[in-house]
Parts: sequence; C-alpha cells; structure tokens
Amino acid sequence: MNDLKGVILAGGLGKRLWPLTKITNKHLLPIYDKPMIYYPLSLLVEAGIKDILIVTGGNHAGEFLRLLGNGQAFGLKHINYTYQEGEGGIAEALGLARHFATGKKLAVVLGDNIFEHSVRPMIESFRRQRKGARVLLKKVNDAHRFGVADVRGKRILSIEEKPLKPKSNWAVTGIYLYDSAVFDIIQTLKPSSRGELEITDVNNAYARKGQLEFDTLDGWWTDSGTFDSLLKANQLVARQAKYEARSRKHEAGSMRQEAGSMRHEA
Ligand code: G1P
Repeated sequence: MNDLKGVILAGGLGKRLWPLTKITNKHLLPIYDKPMIYYPLSLLVEAGIKDILIVTGGNHAGEFLRLLGNGQAFGLKHINYTYQEGEGGIAEALGLARHFATGKKLAVVLGDNIFEHSVRPMIESFRRQRKGARVLLKKVNDAHRFGVADVRGKRILSIEEKPLKPKSNWAVTGIYLYDSAVFDIIQTLKPSSRGELEITDVNNAYARKGQLEFDTLDGWWTDSGTFDSLLKANQLVARQAKYEARSRKHEAGSMRQEAGSMRHEA
C-alpha cells in the first residue's frame, strides 16, 4: 500500500490573489470551513498514501508547521517539509523532492486543487502501470485556463499550456503520477517564457516517449488560484458539506425511526 510517496506543491507567491496573499500563503486561505492545504492532504491520505512531502515557499512557510504539525489530525505520524527558494515554477518545486522519493513512484498534487471524489482508482491503475506517467483529465468549458491534452485513443499525444485556441476541452487536472524518471526529466527542462520550469513540459517529455497515460474524472474538480476559482471552490465545498450533513441527519433519523418501530413490535 505504501509503495507510492506523496508530494504536495504549495509554494509560489499567489500573485493572482493579491492582496489576499500579502500576509499569508495561498494554500492557507480558507475553502469553506478548512484551510486550502487540508484538501490535497486529505486526498492523498484517503488514497492510502502515508509518506508525504509538502513543498512550500514564499514568506509564510513556517505557518504550515504551525497548522499541520506532524499531521496527527490526518492520521499521520509524520509530515516532511521542504522549502522552494524563489519562483522557479511547479516543476522546479517538484525537483526538490528527489531525495525524498528514493526511487519510488510519486503521486504529486497541486496544493490549490480540490476534487469531489477519491482519486484512489487512478492511483490503483498507476500501481499496475509498468512505467511512465499518468494524469487525470476533466472536460471543461474554459480549457484556455489550463494545460490542454491532445488525446488519441488511449494515449496523450501532447499537452499545450494555456492555449489561446484549445485543441480539445480536456483540461489536465493538478494530480500527476510519475515514475522515478521524472527527476532526470526535470534536469533537462528550460524555463518557459514566464521564466518557470513548467509541469506541462515534464508531461510532454513522457508523452514524447509514448509513456503518458490518463484517466478521466467523474465529479467536480476546481483549482482555487484566482478570485473566481477561489469563490467557486468555496461554493462547491460548502454545497457538498451541507449535502453530506443533511444525508447524515436523514440517516440518523431513519435509524431512530427503525429502532422505534422495533421497540414497538417487541
Ligand atoms: C497549473 C498547470 C496546468 C494545470 C493547472 C491545474 O496551472 O500549469 O497545466 O492544468 O495547474 O490546476 P497554474 O494553476 O499554475 O496556472
């Protein structure tokens, strides 16, 4: 079960959310009733991953330790932390996980991504995948905001980062499964026009080798790195929490009713 290691990328300066991120890290902002970082952390733990590294950065990194400690609230014994100096991009942040990974496969999740459902089935498929990488695609109406996959049959031919004219409406969500070759790939990357090492370039290196597989996502998914997506994330999580609370109440009510009628019959 513990064959995969987990990495949460929670660095960056959150410039698109300024001034909300002036006095804290983006991933500590609230999504309904919890800080943002709780969601990717719960996602990995729920999928059976116990050995987790949080890569953070910026000015408020110490707050993660204050908030999460050793991860007791998530049923963990220990959390690993590392610090990204500067703004070198998602792929550079992932490169910092090399010593942590020790040759194992990785489940990498962006700290601002929230998924309705468990990603356990995708992780199970990756356990069976001999080598390469695996991403999770979701059909969206605003593909230009994301990495967009050009899909042929069971393979991804290439991914284009935030294209003006998307070739499909398959967005690449922020969960990436990699074999240990990922670190050698990161070392070959050159900074993009925005001066960052791009995760899409990592995925394209796998696609060129014919080793980029995918699953598609049921249920909702959102990032929360812009004002609109942050609002949307709050609304989606609140709606789900209220729905779950109503279902629990309903269930408790029918159990009480059942117990009542059993007493009556007796
Ligand atoms: C990043 C990735 C993009 C992906 C998105 C998912 O974009 O570069 O390919 O679709 O996360 O949230 P960013 O949020 O850094 O703009």
